[in-house]
Amino acid sequence: MPYEELEDVKKKCEACEKCGLCKTRTNTVFSGGVPNDKLMLIGEAPGFYEDKQGEPFVGKAGQLLDKILGCVGLSRKKDIYICNTIKCRPPENRDPLPEEKAACREYLDKQIEILKPRIILLCGRVAVNSMMETTQGITKLRGKWFEGPNFSKMMPIFHPSYLLRNDSREKGSPKWLMWQDIKEIKRVYDQLCK
Ligand code: URA
Repeated sequence: MPYEELEDVKKKCEACEKCGLCKTRTNTVFSGGVPNDKLMLIGEAPGFYEDKQGEPFVGKAGQLLDKILGCVGLSRKKDIYICNTIKCRPPENRDPLPEEKAACREYLDKQIEILKPRIILLCGRVAVNSMMETTQGITKLRGKWFEGPNFSKMMPIFHPSYLLRNDSREKGSPKWLMWQDIKEIKRVYDQLCK
């Protein structure tokens, strides 16, 4: 099986006790979607439903993410590998602490090293801060391509939970901007799949 190395990393992650979040988690949330070498999305951290189910992006934000991907014909069942900056839920969904991110980093690094995705989507501020050295906010960075690990193309995008709080679809609104971004992502994805 391709990428079987990922299974070993997942097992190690499931037994991880490197930070305090191991005491409050129900499940580790290692990945979702399908392992592939084209498209990876890195989110923030598991929330309530993800912790319960051991699967990333299964709550309201995840449902919106599926819809956004679906708009350009992409699906988590066949096209994208989904993971998070950290693999255990922070209590009350607070931001991950620097020491939690540091303790968990090896799992994310391994996922990237094994898959070597050509496109990496950084979903929200926490993912951007983990993968890029920048002081710029997501609003400035979204929709632009940056060079990522292994010469990948990396794009910051809005987090779907931010879109859930901003209902407008008018030109220039967060939802409208996300629509521009997903179309650009699909354009580059199609070039890679030719
Ligand atoms: N938000 C994230 O960033 N990741 C998840 O897995 C769920 C919600």
